Amino acid sequence: MDEPTQRPLDWAEVARQRAGSALGDPLIYRAQVDSTNALAAALAPEQAPPGAVIVADHQTSGRGRLGRRWLAAPASGLTFTVVLGLRAPAWPTPMASGLAVVEALAEIGIGATLKWPNDVLIGGRKCAGILIETRRVGDAYWLLAGIGINVRAADPSLPNATYLDAHVRQPVQREQLLVHVLERLEHWYTVAAERPARVRDAWQARLDTLGKQVRVQTPNGQIAGLAADIAEDGALIVRLADGSAQAVQAGDVTLATK
Ligand code: BTN
Repeated sequence: MDEPTQRPLDWAEVARQRAGSALGDPLIYRAQVDSTNALAAALAPEQAPPGAVIVADHQTSGRGRLGRRWLAAPASGLTFTVVLGLRAPAWPTPMASGLAVVEALAEIGIGATLKWPNDVLIGGRKCAGILIETRRVGDAYWLLAGIGINVRAADPSLPNATYLDAHVRQPVQREQLLVHVLERLEHWYTVAAERPARVRDAWQARLDTLGKQVRVQTPNGQIAGLAADIAEDGALIVRLADGSAQAVQAGDVTLATK
């Protein structure tokens, strides 16, 4: 990608605002890293305990869902990973993460929705993605919530992607946005531990997928049908042409064109 060089993130300001909070202390910044998820896994548990946030201005091997890559020009977006000590159950965490991004965008005046499971869309175009990975720590599994937000530019190889600055008058302040995401994630992560169904309800209210004809690329092949419902654990229930229903745990949804 051939974007102009952007101002580096004022990570010290983010660290100052998040000092003493449950998510973002410590805040670990790198100008360049292979992947913030990979670094989080390498630094956990001692240097990256639960609540640590690893943020980078440039990833050389950013990871996407389903084995894809996440490409962003240096300092053109927000790429970070939140280390979450596992709270039972784990299933609300991806929902909490998507919800946090949508709510943080609302705080800066950008209306966004979610495409199952947690792609963040503006006007139907993807502006942010979330990759949840696990890291074994002793007998426990920690969750690494990797979040990538297109702020100044999107990956030009993705035809249906957009970026935040295209939707606002003033350039988005990345530091402020990161603080908002961490605040909202802290809220929903706390709710997830006590009332996980509330997270699902709030996430589902932001979901733009139900009731639509979709194609879903799953690890086991492609299916097509009506996005009919959400299961208790967040799986997408697709009603196929023969009337049967299939629950999809992981996959990539494309809306079928009418
Ligand atoms: C997706 O495919 O939509 C998920 C993209 C997730 C990208 C973020 S950027 C920060 C974190 N580190 C990574 O290597 N990937 C995630």
